[in-house]
Amino acid sequence: MYILGIETSCDETSCAIIDDKLNIISNIVFSQQKIHKPYFGVVPELASRTHYEKIHFVLKKALKNVNIRKIKLISYTEKPGLKSALLIGKTVAETFGYIYSIPVIGVNHLLGHIHSLILTYKKIKYPFISLIISGGHTEISIVYSPIERQILGTARDDAVGESFDKVAKMLNLTYPGGPAIEKLAKYGDKNFVNFPRPYMLDSWDFSFSGIKTAVLYYLKSINYKPNKNNKKLISNICASFQEAIVDTLIKKSFLAAEKFNCSRIGISGGVSANNYLRKKFYQIAEKLNIDIYFPRKELATDNAAMICSAGWFLYKKSISNTYPTIS
Ligand code: KG4
Ligand code: ZN
Repeated sequence: MYILGIETSCDETSCAIIDDKLNIISNIVFSQQKIHKPYFGVVPELASRTHYEKIHFVLKKALKNVNIRKIKLISYTEKPGLKSALLIGKTVAETFGYIYSIPVIGVNHLLGHIHSLILTYKKIKYPFISLIISGGHTEISIVYSPIERQILGTARDDAVGESFDKVAKMLNLTYPGGPAIEKLAKYGDKNFVNFPRPYMLDSWDFSFSGIKTAVLYYLKSINYKPNKNNKKLISNICASFQEAIVDTLIKKSFLAAEKFNCSRIGISGGVSANNYLRKKFYQIAEKLNIDIYFPRKELATDNAAMICSAGWFLYKKSISNTYPTIS
């Protein structure tokens, strides 16, 4: 049997089909990045208009060679996200479900990100500390099962990805900022500027707006003007900024692992695509004997396959009070 997934919470229009053994049959993602690029961030009205224009094409592509009769569940992103964008996915899911008499389930987008790990490691072990680092959200939790987590902390202000995007804008790079900063940081000196590390050790929450503001003040202090000739300076700033972010995320994640006596950490969400961050997590985990889970690269950013998986586990639990067994 198949599960159809629909994701429209932000700037990716995505539809996917997975089977009940969590094999991905199709996972079509139409990225709206080019549309939002001139604005250095997601424009909600443009996002919902584009979902509206593209969703039929994306759905058709995801359903290619799929026998619709085999679809036994439709799962869509219910929240959190841009309201008018979410509405497009919900409407398509409900309509499809009504026409073909298929049950429809709404899922939490952040649970979806955790399922990008479950799709990558079908035999993932529980409990694990989950760190979700995306464009709109930062969350640290303890995951006990495919549908149960205890949230420890969230972002008090900017999400991690958002701060990458805002710093990229200050440097006049591009949108999304994360990949651009990572690329330039490779050639930079991570010790060039000592940006603050907001560890906030009295809480599991995160606050990244301070690092962003520190970058802004630094740029003002050197009277920064974007210029092709200062590539070395930009690379140094990118490397220093990335280092401050990565240090903060690492500190809190490993602290949570220690505090809750958990030897596994799973990192998901768009920022988890960052190779430098991955490398540093693996390095420290090796010393501390902790297992690290990262999603396959194509599952790190928003996609509907992770929504299929989250919906499937929630649905199974709701009808039989058991989880599906994945062989
Ligand atoms: O999870 P996602 O696709 O969307 C949300 O749910 O928000 O995450 C998008 C975010 C953007 O802010 C983007 O800059 C960031 O993920 N991102 C990265 C990298 N790739 C994407 N940040 C740092 N390094 C990357 N390689
Ligand atoms: Zn996301």
